[in-house]
Amino acid sequence: MTAELIDGKRIAKEVLEGVRAETARLPSAPGLAVIIVGDDPASHVYVRTKERTAKGVGFHTEKIELPADCGEARVLEEVAKLNARDDIDGILVQLPLPPGINTLRVMAAVDPAKDVDGLHALNAGMLSQGSGDLIPCTPMGCLLLIKSVIPDLTGMHAVVIGASNIVGKPMAALLLGENATVTQCHIHTRDIRFVCRGADIVVSAVGKPGLVKGDWIKPRAVVIDVGTTRVPDGKGGYTLKGDVEFDEAVKVAGAITPVPGGVGPMTIACLMENTLAAYMARRERAAAAA
Ligand code: GUN
Repeated sequence: MTAELIDGKRIAKEVLEGVRAETARLPSAPGLAVIIVGDDPASHVYVRTKERTAKGVGFHTEKIELPADCGEARVLEEVAKLNARDDIDGILVQLPLPPGINTLRVMAAVDPAKDVDGLHALNAGMLSQGSGDLIPCTPMGCLLLIKSVIPDLTGMHAVVIGASNIVGKPMAALLLGENATVTQCHIHTRDIRFVCRGADIVVSAVGKPGLVKGDWIKPRAVVIDVGTTRVPDGKGGYTLKGDVEFDEAVKVAGAITPVPGGVGPMTIACLMENTLAAYMARRERAAAAA
């Protein structure tokens, strides 16, 4: 038996087609602004893909590039300018930020109504209470992938490996909201293999290639690999590697995401969904206040 491959590219395309169709009916284009600080090559590749995808669905986009040594005050100044602009509905500050810039302070400065990353404490808190519209893009995409193979997660045991603010914690909150029993593993977890072997669903978001072995997976489990680490390919380039030992896990799992082509395209598609949602919510609020 080999696992079903969960095709993130196909599902992301469906999400984007929906966003494009809705955008075409709007009186103005939703605006997405991306701030990128420093010259991390992987971050620049991600940002270019976000811009291209945003243009493809009919959004207006802007990129603000700042040098790595610009300082936190400069980043906060750019965030404040974007907060004040009516034509910008979504603000994304690409992470990681260079050393010396406090990520939580920058996230806290973004207008929660424009926080299309869902990382502001208000949006994170709303998600933990089971409400809110702006949910971090990667976990939102992972949930869509999981639900494409298990529509009802009630009573399932889901194990999330990783406890970051951007993926692990919101992922656990989303799974809890779907009535799954959730175990969160992290660097201090003892006997992680034992924990994973009891899981109907495993989501790994660590960034350590090959961390999750084939014999950690329960037969027929659903495996979602968020890890996307660049490793040299020996020819001067690089390949992307997931957290999961794919060749072994695919023999055991019921369904599994490939890397690349699994979670990656979903993150970007969900960013477009969030930008559209932010546009709609801002205009509804403005109309109600008028
Ligand atoms: N860096 C890697 N993934 C993400 C993401 O989803 N949002 C932001 N802002 N930065 C990232």
